[in-house]
Amino acid sequence: MKINSLNLHNFRNYKDEFLTFSDNFNLIYGENGQGKTNIIEAFYYFCTGRSFKNVKDKEVVLFGEDTAKIKIEFEKFGSLNFAEILLKDEKIITLNGVNIKKLSELVGFVKAVLFTPDCLNLIKGAPSERRHFLDVFISSLYPVYFKLLLNYYKVLKQKNTLLKSFNADENLIYVWNEKLAEFAHLIFKYRAFIIDKIYPYLKEFQSEISGGRENLDIFYNPSVKENFNDREKVLQYINEHTKKEIDAGFCLVGPHRDDFSLFINGKDLKHYGSQGQIRTSVLSLKLSECEVTGEICGEYPVLLFDDITSEIDIKRRGFLFEKIKDKQTFMTCTEKENVKNANFIHIKNGKAVN
Ligand SMILES: Nc1ncnc2c1ncn2[C@@H]1O[C@H](COP(=O)(O)OP(=O)(O)OP(=O)(O)O)[C@@H](O)[C@H]1O
Ligand SMILES: [Mg+2]
Repeated sequence: MKINSLNLHNFRNYKDEFLTFSDNFNLIYGENGQGKTNIIEAFYYFCTGRSFKNVKDKEVVLFGEDTAKIKIEFEKFGSLNFAEILLKDEKIITLNGVNIKKLSELVGFVKAVLFTPDCLNLIKGAPSERRHFLDVFISSLYPVYFKLLLNYYKVLKQKNTLLKSFNADENLIYVWNEKLAEFAHLIFKYRAFIIDKIYPYLKEFQSEISGGRENLDIFYNPSVKENFNDREKVLQYINEHTKKEIDAGFCLVGPHRDDFSLFINGKDLKHYGSQGQIRTSVLSLKLSECEVTGEICGEYPVLLFDDITSEIDIKRRGFLFEKIKDKQTFMTCTEKENVKNANFIHIKNGKAVN
């Protein structure tokens, strides 16, 4: 897919701005604090309906104003589309002029792979960071997965409320377990499937980046270790933990306790990887995400790279530019990098300048 243009009205430090883009490489450059990341943030709103910075909608509205509006024109499989998000007290999203009632109708329509310096938390951070990565990725590929997640977390919340109360009725918990198992085994299945898909790309990219010196593996660590594809087995496993869960006062097993790990040359990257190896591994993971999306959907997502080149040495940058040359890319940096055939956008104080 390709994004042709972006309109910003009262979004962050942009009063009114209209930007057009090239199909290949778009380099957004400027000094610190000028509004480069704000552009990436606006794009990403169209992927998930939210900011990737985990802030409330009202925080992205220009100081002193009460409404922000962002709009993109984009091509999907050759056909032209428009999406608009109005951020007021409530959020109003329209796709080709039609109002979208549920976020699940938007998720996955605009596809992008986001890489920011915060993505390093994917390795160093808590398991919730890795689950979030998988969930956003799989939801963008399969909208039904997003609905599964919503259903699973709704039931989980109800069961946790029950477990927190005194005298939780064991029989009632078994009823919730039935529902949980129904959604859980499918979530496990999707996650295992996508990690299998990522695996060969990840190995290939890391090997290429490191000149054949680094072997990167990814392993899924589901909360239910065996037969996680089987609804009955998952239910049995959850039921076996019920007494412990009543003692603990919260749910101990299920997709909300999943994780995955990355191993570099046989060692856990989280504990033994160098800074450079961690950065490069995240880059390999993001490029794999892009390839898997292309393989499954038949069209590549756009690439949103915020402030990452300063973290990558010249040789590895060369590899990166080679890999992304046929994909629409938006990259921010503080200097005007010498990239062949790039569309340069210079940002100064919330405005594109020449
Ligand atoms: N709601 C808002 N209204 C107006 N300005 C805002 C709002 N939110 C953030 N800003 C401003 O946006 C600017 C930061 O923008 P952004 O993060 O895009 O900068 P950047 O160009 O990416 O900088 P860096 O190179 O440091 O990453 C800051 O000057 C900040 O004060
Ligand atoms: Mg920035």
